[in-house]
Amino acid sequence: MTILPGLLDTEAIRKDFPILDRTVHDGKKIVYLDSAATSQKPRQVLDALNAYYERHNANVHRGVYTIAEEATALYEGARDKVAAFINAPSRDEVIFTKNASESLNLVANMLGWADEPYRVDHDTEIVITEMEHHSNIVPWQLLSQRTGAKLKWFGLTDDGRLDLSNIDEIITEKTKVVSFVLVSNIMGTVNPVETIVRRAQEVGALVVIDASQAAPHMVLDVQALQADFVAFTGHKMCGPTGIGVLWGRQELLEDLPPFLGGGEMIETVSMHSSTYAPAPHKFEAGTPPIAQAVGLGAAVDYLSSIGMENIARHEHAITQYAVRRLQEVPDLRIIGPTTAEDRGATISFTLGDIHPHDVGQVLDEQGIAVRVGHHCARPVCLRYGIPATTRASFYLYSTPGEVDALVEGLEHVRNFFG
Ligand code: ALA
Repeated sequence: MTILPGLLDTEAIRKDFPILDRTVHDGKKIVYLDSAATSQKPRQVLDALNAYYERHNANVHRGVYTIAEEATALYEGARDKVAAFINAPSRDEVIFTKNASESLNLVANMLGWADEPYRVDHDTEIVITEMEHHSNIVPWQLLSQRTGAKLKWFGLTDDGRLDLSNIDEIITEKTKVVSFVLVSNIMGTVNPVETIVRRAQEVGALVVIDASQAAPHMVLDVQALQADFVAFTGHKMCGPTGIGVLWGRQELLEDLPPFLGGGEMIETVSMHSSTYAPAPHKFEAGTPPIAQAVGLGAAVDYLSSIGMENIARHEHAITQYAVRRLQEVPDLRIIGPTTAEDRGATISFTLGDIHPHDVGQVLDEQGIAVRVGHHCARPVCLRYGIPATTRASFYLYSTPGEVDALVEGLEHVRNFFG
């Protein structure tokens, strides 16, 4: 058994995740290396979801009866937990959405419909990067098409980092918003937030950070990031699917217009016009994802009980080990940083000219679950001249033994394809 400094007690942690005991393909124990797509869920989260539906299920902010008040307290309690988890100055800055994509679409639409000084129009520029998940590209393309604003982006260096050499030409006096990913979902790169934020602040641009691959893995402090909006999703951080978060600075949430209209988000409605509830409710039209928020609250409790610093240290050790072991595999090319510094626990690679779909299928036959494809970050594949990658991603329950299993599995893939 490989022992690395900084590892968590995975034997104990894995007992919390029932699915990790599953076998596939005639008794092969599952080796789950796709946590960047979605994490597995601990019993504590599953129990919270069950308890909610078994004992407290009712709609929120409406009923005067006991279980409706309990449901409201649980839903709003989850908001408190998330606010504390990201060090938000106020709980009212935490908006629940369906996922990170919805959070990012919400910001793009707020800015598209906003008045000055936030309004994005044909005279202004939007800045993103070539490293974005499609969820942080397409909403800005739509906004650009609708408003005539120019869409610009930072390119990538050969080693999978942002090329900021022309930062002053990319972010200019015309830039209204800079939106970028904190940790790349395809390459694991951790981006230099401070440099980008400093330049954005110099020109008065708003900063939006996609923290989907950061919130599950490291301490996320929205005040330290100095961004204006931070988006992430619950299902990658041990929570259920169907729940995302948009954190935004309070004065912006007060000033910016809502995107979706409907129940819950109003103060008064007449046949001619409506006034809106204060944030966060202004941005939460309709019945919200109540059980999912409760589940996210339980996930936040679970991660906090282990400690985000401990989780980050564990993943750093696993990643360092995985990068080293993968580099020993003949014909394997890592797409992205090959050092363990400034990178998260997601590693994409190609294996000679074997198509990633074939790699994924042969690995699956051995019980090893990886993601293959362009990972919703197709511009990265285009940049590096490849159709797709195989991606292994690790989390708090990943072990060095699973890295060894992957490396052995890849040997098997190479033998299989001669
Ligand atoms: N965004 C998820 C991933 O990177 C689905 O796999």
